[in-house]
Amino acid sequence: MRWPAEAIWEALSPQWPDFTVEVLPQIDSTNSELMRRVRAGRCEPTLLVAEQQTAGRGRLGRDWHSQVGDSLTFSVSLPLAPADWSGLSLAVGVSVAESLHPDIQLKWPNDLWLQGRKLAGVLIETASAGDQRVVVVGVGINIAPRDAQGLSTPPACLQELLPGIDAGQALLRVAPPLLQALAAFQLAGLAPFLPGFVRRDLLCGQAVTLSNGTVGMARGVDAQGGLLLQTSAGMQTVTSSEVSVRPAAPGAVPGASA
Ligand code: BTN
Repeated sequence: MRWPAEAIWEALSPQWPDFTVEVLPQIDSTNSELMRRVRAGRCEPTLLVAEQQTAGRGRLGRDWHSQVGDSLTFSVSLPLAPADWSGLSLAVGVSVAESLHPDIQLKWPNDLWLQGRKLAGVLIETASAGDQRVVVVGVGINIAPRDAQGLSTPPACLQELLPGIDAGQALLRVAPPLLQALAAFQLAGLAPFLPGFVRRDLLCGQAVTLSNGTVGMARGVDAQGGLLLQTSAGMQTVTSSEVSVRPAAPGAVPGASA
């Protein structure tokens, strides 16, 4: 498989002349590596792809496991100065989903799901270098079927939707629009991405349980990207990305109906 580093650089260098594309055979985590570089003062826009991660990280302190060849793991770093950072994770999820396929859904805040199974995850971090704030957006996409041992729900993979696609082809589809999405977010915030999120909102109308024990009916998102949750105590807005959400067990939400 060939990595389309040159094609990606050609697409992005007119707007970001100092853009770098780098493919490494192995690293602990592409997010960790770009965060280290930013903290060391290296802020130039970078796309870092790893053929293998030895310590891939997910949201909420979870691990992200992937095998060589059956997944795409990369991170992008870019100095960013939006007026309002809220909703960035939703904007990134919308961009990645739209680059790949209309059937992909988004599970708030930014997991990509296909037919009830997770297809891809996004991990967003920021670091400061001097007076610049740099965002590091990490994306992991399952490309080919893999062993689901030990996982409660076997993951989906992109080849179910796009037979024969490889990690390099997926990267070429996703990376240039992702950089454009970050630039658009800097200018206009979440607003231009909201209709795309609404179209793909997996949880809307579903009974859900938060990891802090709250149960309710998911009722979409607000203008800042907070999850609207109808609970017995009224409508709540869930903004903390430290909370995970899962469909509730039947009967968990009294009187729930979509
Ligand atoms: C999640 O679903 O919790 C987010 C998973 C994000 C995984 C990607 S793989 C590339 C980048 N490097 C990491 O260590 N994590 C992200």
